[in-house]
Amino acid sequence: MTSLVPPRLRALRHVGLRTSAFDESVAFYAGPWGLEIVERTDDAVYLRAAGPEHHVLALYRSASNALDHVAFAVPTPAEVDAAAAWVEAEGTTILEKPGPLDRPGAGYGFRCLDPENRVLEISAENHAVPERPQDVPVPRKVAHVVLNTTDIDAATAWYTRVLGLRVSDWSEHKMVFLRAVGDHHVVAFNQAEWTAPNHVAYEVASLDAWMRSIGRLKVAGHEVSWGPGRHGPGDNAFAYYVDPAGLVPEMTAEVLQIDDDTWMPRVWPRTPELSDLFRTAGPPSPFIREHMAGVPDPGWVQG
Ligand SMILES: [Fe+2]
Repeated sequence: MTSLVPPRLRALRHVGLRTSAFDESVAFYAGPWGLEIVERTDDAVYLRAAGPEHHVLALYRSASNALDHVAFAVPTPAEVDAAAAWVEAEGTTILEKPGPLDRPGAGYGFRCLDPENRVLEISAENHAVPERPQDVPVPRKVAHVVLNTTDIDAATAWYTRVLGLRVSDWSEHKMVFLRAVGDHHVVAFNQAEWTAPNHVAYEVASLDAWMRSIGRLKVAGHEVSWGPGRHGPGDNAFAYYVDPAGLVPEMTAEVLQIDDDTWMPRVWPRTPELSDLFRTAGPPSPFIREHMAGVPDPGWVQG
């Protein structure tokens, strides 16, 4: 019998969002945001970036905004099986046992619930997609998802112990940044009054591509709601928008890469000079804070 060990998630694959403005949001993300539709039905659309993932964003038609699921990558079906065995042994609710995924992008994976009823998917061997030309500065991947939690310590404990993510940094005791491999964070938690998706960040290849993306959005009539600036924790350039449904996407670049052997997590005081290294953005407005808080999201409910 093999001994159980925590999973080693390699990356964030995609985020699924339920959106109260489905058609307008599809037009926004497939238009000036720079993603491309790979598959769609009347009530769901799957959008890819320029990188190898089949899709980085799935949008679902819904009465209210909510997180549908978050998907992580491991390289082999054997690691999917091992991850499922570990999380189940930790007392986690398994929604779908490991097996072939009957969804766009296919692959082999399983689904489970985190302690706040978020649906998580861990998968391997998803379908390949053709290369996209790299000469246009569009997102190449989903960089991270930030989630509002009512208990940041419980969320941190579960995502490190059960999912095997590692703490990269804290923003005081209000945000925690968790990494898989390389990128400073793939998930961050924000202490809040209720659970909800806070924002989803998409990475472009350079600061030049980031400025050009901001320009493309501006020409299309979409102004930055917070930014441009550069975060202290993670060192990434940021520009936050509000999408047609009121959800918040972030255009980011130059996310700090972490060496696991030498990295020491720090606690970042929320001073102006540490919150925005560029000093261009200023503090977030009440408007963007309201959209990052979102609407209460109960998570998965038995269908
Ligand atoms: Fe972010």
